[in-house]
Amino acid sequence: MKKIGLVTSGGDAPGMNAAIRAVVRIACSRDLQVFGFERGWEGLLTNTFRRLTPRSVGGILHLGGTILRTSRSPEFKKREGVQKAAETLTLNNVDGLVVVGGDGSLRGALELSRETDARIVGIPATIDNDVFGTEETIGFDTAVNTAITEIDKIRDTANSHERVFIVEVMGRKRGFLALTVGLTVGAEIILVPEVKYSLENIVRTLEESSAKGKKSGIIVAAEGIGDTRKLLREIEEKTGLDVRLSISGYAQRGGHPTARSRLLANLFGNRAVELLLNKQGKRMVGLQKGRITSIELEQVCKTEKSLDLNLLRLAQTLAI
Ligand code: F6P
Repeated sequence: MKKIGLVTSGGDAPGMNAAIRAVVRIACSRDLQVFGFERGWEGLLTNTFRRLTPRSVGGILHLGGTILRTSRSPEFKKREGVQKAAETLTLNNVDGLVVVGGDGSLRGALELSRETDARIVGIPATIDNDVFGTEETIGFDTAVNTAITEIDKIRDTANSHERVFIVEVMGRKRGFLALTVGLTVGAEIILVPEVKYSLENIVRTLEESSAKGKKSGIIVAAEGIGDTRKLLREIEEKTGLDVRLSISGYAQRGGHPTARSRLLANLFGNRAVELLLNKQGKRMVGLQKGRITSIELEQVCKTEKSLDLNLLRLAQTLAI
């Protein structure tokens, strides 16, 4: 193996730059050349890349976003697109590719691995933490902390005004972020896409809370639960409480990665290059039982990571 490619794809996540730096520096220390494909899969479709060296990835470890930029590529969802990307790898004599991204990107990586002889290794990076085969993805911890910082402030104003706040966090399909954030800010209610909510239960919980003397209420809701504006109106109508909505959204995708996100990026980057050097492909690196491991991409893509519903119950108990 002489030349490897590197691509960041899908929604960005804080720590992607740290992963780029780690892959490049580990690879270069093992005499590999690294081509950084730009704008996600688009770079492989249009043969757009730059040589990455230990110096060109200096000063990025602490930055959010991705210096390679990223995109969601509809063309890559089609077989012709994947074949075109495979041709780009052949054209440039790239014999290994590291794909940094979330579930969609890892599915793309698996598709690509079926069309090329180049070895493909995935690094899970998404604020959603919804990738099977790893207990944590790069960026998740940062997004959790960003949301916590915001909601702690919201709690102050919620207390002063004796209000209920619905805080919408990201997570169109899965509730890992909402669950961890809700638990760690002491939310009275956590709503996740995996569990259909009941308005009656929400109303009952809020009424009980206020009867117990609580001066404010925080509902952490994943964006995927439905229309939070409508939910706000319904809660106000049924309870007469003063309810506000705060959508924290895309801020959770940016910002300086936490120590935890940087550490994962370094460890995952290291293992990804090691796998390629050991002639292993079609795999994703991950964290399991506190150890850096790897798992077949096929397994990652066909298995849904399950949400620990015990944590929802724990949050309820802690909010009494
Ligand atoms: O990166 C994951 C994620 O933030 C999801 O939580 C969210 O639903 C989605 O990306 C939004 O993505 P886009 O960048 O396409 O708006």
